[in-house]
Amino acid sequence: MPSSEVKYQSGFGNEFATEAVPGALPVGQNSPQKAPLGLYTEQLSGSAFTAPRAVNRRTWSYRIRPSVTHKPYVEHPGGLIRGVFDELPTPPNQLRWDPFPIPSEPTDFVDGLITIAGNGDPAAQSGVAIHIYAANASMQRRYFYTADGELLIVPQQGRTAIATELGILEVKPGEICVIPRGIKFRVDLPDGPSRGYVCENSAAPFRLPELGAIGANGLANARDFLAPTAAYEDIDAECHIVAKFLGRLWTAEIDHSPLDVVAWHGNYVPYKYDLARFNCINTVSFDHPDPSIYTVLTSPANVDFAIFPPRWLVAEHTFRPPWFHRNLMNEFMGLIFGQYDAKAEGFLPGGASLHNCMSGHGPDAETYERASNAELKPVYLADTLAFMFETQLVLRPTRFAMESKILQHEYYECWQGLRKHFKGNV
Ligand SMILES: [Fe+2]
Repeated sequence: MPSSEVKYQSGFGNEFATEAVPGALPVGQNSPQKAPLGLYTEQLSGSAFTAPRAVNRRTWSYRIRPSVTHKPYVEHPGGLIRGVFDELPTPPNQLRWDPFPIPSEPTDFVDGLITIAGNGDPAAQSGVAIHIYAANASMQRRYFYTADGELLIVPQQGRTAIATELGILEVKPGEICVIPRGIKFRVDLPDGPSRGYVCENSAAPFRLPELGAIGANGLANARDFLAPTAAYEDIDAECHIVAKFLGRLWTAEIDHSPLDVVAWHGNYVPYKYDLARFNCINTVSFDHPDPSIYTVLTSPANVDFAIFPPRWLVAEHTFRPPWFHRNLMNEFMGLIFGQYDAKAEGFLPGGASLHNCMSGHGPDAETYERASNAELKPVYLADTLAFMFETQLVLRPTRFAMESKILQHEYYECWQGLRKHFKGNV
């Protein structure tokens, strides 16, 4: 489907309703004795049936065949995907990686998924897995879902066209999307070589943060989130479903495309968001708030997704970059484009850093010297977009992440040049 024909519905957590063929959506009830147009009725629940109304998520789909019509799953080589995070001891060191390489061999989104770190346990519906995707080919007659969590996908290079059971999302660098747990999808890569970051959230689904004293508006506004409209494939051909289930991959044959939902209604939906729409709020006097002010989405008591977008820096008599700090929380950062204001070099688009619980970090020596002596006129921080997956539990890197040659073993050196300035009682 050409881009110009992809349509969206706006809002966050709405009761959406959409049909690709007029009359496909039943009116006034969910499960008529015979669904319209000879379709099958299927409910997809993303929360406990009795979850409070504000967090209850489910979608009714009207599809050509029900999801159950596949052959048995068999275990599929998982490559570098991991679901248990005990491969190696986790060091308290600050960690940073060069940009993750994009393969030269034909590699689709699923084959290009590499787990970098994680915590918790998908079997206990806790924690996250952080993956990179580095791929260059579209998925062919192949569909993926994960029962282990919802996927927050952050493209860094190359556009993605994600055909889901509930419709199509086109997502480019600077935008993000979220695919709920269980929803099948296929990723097309129209630009070829592509890369991005993925946070697989096994706990409560992402929601918008409370705004407290900010008031009724600000940060990511609900109307800027876009859900797909119904779009289906009526393809009778040998296809494969790849499922991620308890950290392992499984595959099953199916004789048709599982993206065969002709109409649906509900609030358990994939969605996209343009990070340029983020209403960035910060100081107009001195100092700066904690980075929670940059939160786009939150899974309470599990993981926050925060961004560091282009913005004005106007604080007076203030050290403007992020300060030196140690946190209870654990910070995985990536860079989509540009340069991050706490690091003059070494933190590159497509790379990543990890600062775990109570590990000191902050501006490098060069940034400290520059920012301590900068003239404090208003400065626009342009052409930059960094983000953070900030988790409650310690992020344990995988063996791949710790043994890869793109791990920057010299990262610690960026702070070794921080000189002693103390002069005592003078
Ligand atoms: Fe930090």
